[in-house]
Amino acid sequence: MTENQNFKPCDLVIYGALGDLSKRKLLISLYRLEKHHLIEADTRIIGVDRLDETSDGFVEIAHKSLQAFLNNDIDDSIWQRFAQRLSYLKIDLTQPEQYKQLNKAIDPEKRVMVNYFAVSPLLFKSICHGLHNSGALTTESRMVMEKPIGHDLKSSVEINDVVAQVFHENQVYRIDHYLGKETVLNLLALRFANSLFYTCWNHNTIDHIQITVGEDIGIEGRWDYFDKTGQLRDMLQNHLLQILTFVTMEPPADLSAHSIHMEKIKLLKALRPITYLNVEEKTVRGQYTAGYIQGKPVPGYLEEAGANTESITESFVAIRVDIDNWRWAGVPIYMRTGKRMPNKRTEIVVNFKNLPHNIFKDSFHELPANKLVIHLQPNEGVDVMMLNKIPGIDGNIKLQQTKLDLSFSETFKKNRIFGGYEKLILEALRGNPTLFLSREEIEQAWTWVDSIQDAWQHNHTPPKPYPAGNWGPVASVALLARDGRAWEE
Ligand code: BG6
Repeated sequence: MTENQNFKPCDLVIYGALGDLSKRKLLISLYRLEKHHLIEADTRIIGVDRLDETSDGFVEIAHKSLQAFLNNDIDDSIWQRFAQRLSYLKIDLTQPEQYKQLNKAIDPEKRVMVNYFAVSPLLFKSICHGLHNSGALTTESRMVMEKPIGHDLKSSVEINDVVAQVFHENQVYRIDHYLGKETVLNLLALRFANSLFYTCWNHNTIDHIQITVGEDIGIEGRWDYFDKTGQLRDMLQNHLLQILTFVTMEPPADLSAHSIHMEKIKLLKALRPITYLNVEEKTVRGQYTAGYIQGKPVPGYLEEAGANTESITESFVAIRVDIDNWRWAGVPIYMRTGKRMPNKRTEIVVNFKNLPHNIFKDSFHELPANKLVIHLQPNEGVDVMMLNKIPGIDGNIKLQQTKLDLSFSETFKKNRIFGGYEKLILEALRGNPTLFLSREEIEQAWTWVDSIQDAWQHNHTPPKPYPAGNWGPVASVALLARDGRAWEE
């Protein structure tokens, strides 16, 4: 018996089925959902691409991808069930008449058509029109797309406009895979289900917040794409701003997509603009040079395969964000993200204010303030740093900083933590838009980020070098030091 018996089966059409995203993420996630009986029995997966291939060939390609990315951990009976869902259509997406085949392959009476656009946004227009003109779409049909949704506000509006000609906003599912991460969602529970945080989540009690998304990997053969994009657009415009909104937005009225989107948009509108006048003091751009990651030598950004040795694209960015609203006035949020950091680490550190008076001077000249550390990946969990008395009977009260820690893998041993893509694909199949991005939200995020990008360009701000294996350039340390603070290490 499937868990999701109340959901309608789907015709999931993957455009770009033979591409990297499909092979590395989508097919793997779908197989994992199959394994856990989370896909409706009648759901079909139709791979669409322009290459000559048959359905049998597609099944074989899917099997090879699973072998490669799941280290051969494939259960034969699950695979047989999964393979039966797969079929392939060779369609040149720029040729409107070829969409007729697709029309024949789907069955809108029985199944909802879910169109996953795993192709370049340059093809979105052709697909939307091809689908519309072929008559394949109904008001129930959905479309799923993911970043890059533009590289600035203008291009993002263009993409959204093209899609809006054919799909109503409530049919569009824009993915940010960070919203599928269990720990990002847990932020809602942590903040809005625990009375402990209800009164202290504001400028009265919180001194500042840090958000770090570090990766030890470099550009991984994506130099061309990355060089045109940079870390600000690739990571901060989407993933970090999403984390920021979950940490700082007002409580939504309920958990509906509409209520959550409204609060996120309000928060994004309250971000103080960074312009060419203050960009040098509020941001740090960095680019890695050769160095060592976990003891192994790695090349610098300009020495990666296919690199343009003159490039001034940033692989690291640190920013001081100010939120102009009642809750967060005077509480800076420091965000940093980069490639070739010492390790992969995504975490949020909420630093509480110091106590007004210290009666434990024997232990600490200045009492360390409490910290709430939320580990998003790896080792998902939540720690609270607090002070406790060291046991002893010598008459003095001696304090030590201790950690109250909740590890997800220990606490929820029986519950498997699903990957971001699994969760989001499932929600798209179920027709639940809560974890997807609204158009207004994305455009608001671009408005804020564009102003930083323009300011760097206006000032000709070059990236500062940092050796691979470090947490960015020294200027990133100075960004906090100027405010009398330091990054959590
Ligand atoms: C992607 C970026 O959106 O997120 C990549 O394009 C980055 O550059 C990746 O490596 C990081 O995702 P995760 O889930 O590994 O933190």
